[in-house]
Amino acid sequence: MLDPYNRDINYLRISVTDRCNLRCTYCRPMEGISLTGHEDILRYEEILRVVSRAVALGFVKVRLTGGEPLVRRGFVEFAAELKKLKGLEDISLTTNGILLEKYADAIFKAGITRINISLDSLDRDKYRQITRGGNLDDVFNGIAAVEKAGFSPIKINTVIVKGFNDNEVMDFARLAMGKPFQIRFIEIMPVSSVNTGHAEDFLPNRELMETIGRHFRLAPLAGKKHKSDGPARIYTLQDGRGEIGFIDPVSDHFCATCNRLRLMADGKLRACLLKDEEVDLKAALRRKCGDGELDDLIGRAVRLKPEKHDLDCTDRHLKKCHRDMSDIGG
Ligand code: GTP
Ligand code: 5AD
Ligand code: SF4
Repeated sequence: MLDPYNRDINYLRISVTDRCNLRCTYCRPMEGISLTGHEDILRYEEILRVVSRAVALGFVKVRLTGGEPLVRRGFVEFAAELKKLKGLEDISLTTNGILLEKYADAIFKAGITRINISLDSLDRDKYRQITRGGNLDDVFNGIAAVEKAGFSPIKINTVIVKGFNDNEVMDFARLAMGKPFQIRFIEIMPVSSVNTGHAEDFLPNRELMETIGRHFRLAPLAGKKHKSDGPARIYTLQDGRGEIGFIDPVSDHFCATCNRLRLMADGKLRACLLKDEEVDLKAALRRKCGDGELDDLIGRAVRLKPEKHDLDCTDRHLKKCHRDMSDIGG
């Protein structure tokens, strides 16, 4: 489906739950968040119906996110049902990795073979601090389990917070030397009630690239290696087994190539990560609307896509959207 700026919108990110077993400082407010009630969350059958209409309209890619998707009961069975949808070419998962040791094999068997794992520190204490209680060993065990199960690619998402984990950039880069992982550095975005001190926390990826470039030879990967390398700029490391990716939503808008819509757990379809315009699908789904109405609603969300967001790394007290990142799923 073409949006008003002639972009082909063919990628649906689905947040299956707003619940999470962590509370990362840049994602969730400290005092916790009001979780959507059970009845207000789309049922898996409802999500499957939305995806089947999206596929009929030309969507080919789905990424499952949260909150933490693996905390929702029945997730593996849902993934297996999704896999059966004809025309859906690509299903991937973004997870914090805490429950992966338990679920890696089952998810792989269900047909999800591409995985992105959030990991912001390789130091136990810092990891506990930034996730407000997470155990780093759980993530390491989860990563070992997805390697063993055969997932490919395995991407690690690292949000760098200035003065907190920027001293670990080289440790992460070394991980990509030794392992066939794609380590992606994501610029911190000021979203909702967290990150009010964004200007102080923000470090442009350009600086990280310079740091890594002083130690390793980085070469830009020509073309896209994986079908969905999305917004990341990817580099190979000389003599390294993995790759480094840079995702620069703040310093270098990649909106011109945006191909996404986001379905949230409460049934709202969001046109842009950083804009609050949404279309409600739940009400229509609950009154068993016809396919035509659902198609119209999806089309409305596509038409709502803005040309670009207006984030600026010098903004100090931002509230670029009212939702928390854990609602939207990144
Ligand atoms: P693949 O390219 O399919 O691997 O996925 P991805 O990189 O889009 O997925 P992932 O869930 O790992 O997202 C990484 C992070 O990049 C997101 O959580 C956001 O922080 C950022 N990001 C992804 N897509 C967008 C987007 O459309 N706009 C902005 N501003 N940031 C995005
Ligand atoms: N800025 C940048 N990335 C974020 N994520 C969550 N909140 C933010 C933020 N404020 C990332 C997580 C995860 C992905 C889904 O979104 O680290 O990897
Ligand atoms: Fe949970 Fe992901 Fe948000 Fe961390 S970034 S609190 S893992 S949803």
